[in-house]
Amino acid sequence: MTDFHTHLLPRLDDGSKSPEMSLAMLNELKRQGVKRIIASPHFYANDESVDSFIERREKSFSSVKAEIRDLEILLGAEVKFYSGISRLQDLKKLCIEGTKLLLLEMPFSKWTEYDIKEITDIASSGGITVVLAHIERYLSFQEKGTFEMLYDYGVLFQCNSSFFTGHFKKSKAFKMLRDNRIHFIGSDCHNMKDRPPNINIALSALTKKFGDDFVADYINYGNKLILQNKIN
Ligand SMILES: [Fe+2]
Repeated sequence: MTDFHTHLLPRLDDGSKSPEMSLAMLNELKRQGVKRIIASPHFYANDESVDSFIERREKSFSSVKAEIRDLEILLGAEVKFYSGISRLQDLKKLCIEGTKLLLLEMPFSKWTEYDIKEITDIASSGGITVVLAHIERYLSFQEKGTFEMLYDYGVLFQCNSSFFTGHFKKSKAFKMLRDNRIHFIGSDCHNMKDRPPNINIALSALTKKFGDDFVADYINYGNKLILQNKIN
């Protein structure tokens, strides 16, 4: 299982506050059966350059790297959308390590046609596959058909584990997943307390609903999507 969305590298954003906290989060995910983790610290183009972000991320990762066992960590970013992002020169550098997958955080409001065009411009520019972060947070704001149109452009969708809690939310999550509109699941963990590593919530809800074989197939499907988006 891959945890596709995490804030567990130390002192990079509002996530982990120390290497100790990072290791506790990593070990907890390992305990839950996670094999691969996408480290996706927030990136805000207003605050810093892509190169400076990458340098900080490298430094942070190197403070915990030696202690990590039996987990594959891929360095990425949760890139905050802004008007003009499709023209950011270094955008590709923010893709998840070794892949062309870009985790994009959209505004929690109704997107304008220009916002949507930015996404489709990135998606059709070649070399980047957009993955919209925590898709469940945007659903109620957008017009019907927006996500179908984006999917037709090759945009993929990530949801948080917490989408699989609560009766109404959960049935929506199950439906979207079965309709191939949830491609990746992430814990979006920030710490061990109020936003903990909790990929197990999604795993146990899916197992209960669809059974072990379905979950194994879904995990394979996610692995395949990552492989398909690998670059040399
Ligand atoms: Fe996040």
